[in-house]
Amino acid sequence: MTLVSTSLLNLSEEDYVHSLYNLETSKTDYFHIDVMDGKFVENNTSKRMKDYAMALSHISSLGLDVHLMVENVEEYIDEYIDLEPRIISFHIEAIREKSRVFSIIDELKRNNIRIGLAINPNTKIEEIKEYLPFIHMVLIMSVEPGKGGQLYLPETTQKISELKEYLDKNNLDLDIEVDGGINDKTAEEAVNAGASILVAGSYILKSENPKEAVRNLKKYDF
Ligand code: DX5
Ligand code: ZN
Repeated sequence: MTLVSTSLLNLSEEDYVHSLYNLETSKTDYFHIDVMDGKFVENNTSKRMKDYAMALSHISSLGLDVHLMVENVEEYIDEYIDLEPRIISFHIEAIREKSRVFSIIDELKRNNIRIGLAINPNTKIEEIKEYLPFIHMVLIMSVEPGKGGQLYLPETTQKISELKEYLDKNNLDLDIEVDGGINDKTAEEAVNAGASILVAGSYILKSENPKEAVRNLKKYDF
């Protein structure tokens, strides 16, 4: 069953508690918290995203799917750990030393948080293969990270298939989360290629009926 993770990046700040309440009823599976530090990407959303995550910890029992687009991964993990997120994903492009990747993996495991490794559009699957046996999910960016409302990069579909094929061949049971430009059209393409979790921001937030938008995304199955 395809899962949906609603990105809050483009959620407006005014009356956000009410909006979060409404989104809770849309039957999304996760809330996707896009944390940006203004260094790894130009935008800085750290305060707003922390406010949203704090509010959600009181409003909703749905899992937090935290997407760290930051350089100092360890610092932001420390900031979110008390909110007991379901998933934390961090970018391989932010960390080059293998030992650092493994110590982050160990820390997330110790805190019983599912581990996601995120890769940008121009990062090859090859660059993360060695970590796959130790993590739970690969977050494939289908847009350049940094803002919502962008168009799905069509070359992403081939990348999803390539990863899915590799996981199946090597008996690795990981989620493939696809993030950026997901709507009812691109969802079908991404799921048919092997995606199991779809991140959607604009498609859900801009829709008249978020519940129907989420339903439209969940109807595809690999
Ligand atoms: C972009 C974020 C995405 C984005 C998705 O850097 O990681 O989660 O907010 O928003 P849409 O669905 O509007 O592309
Ligand atoms: Zn994201």
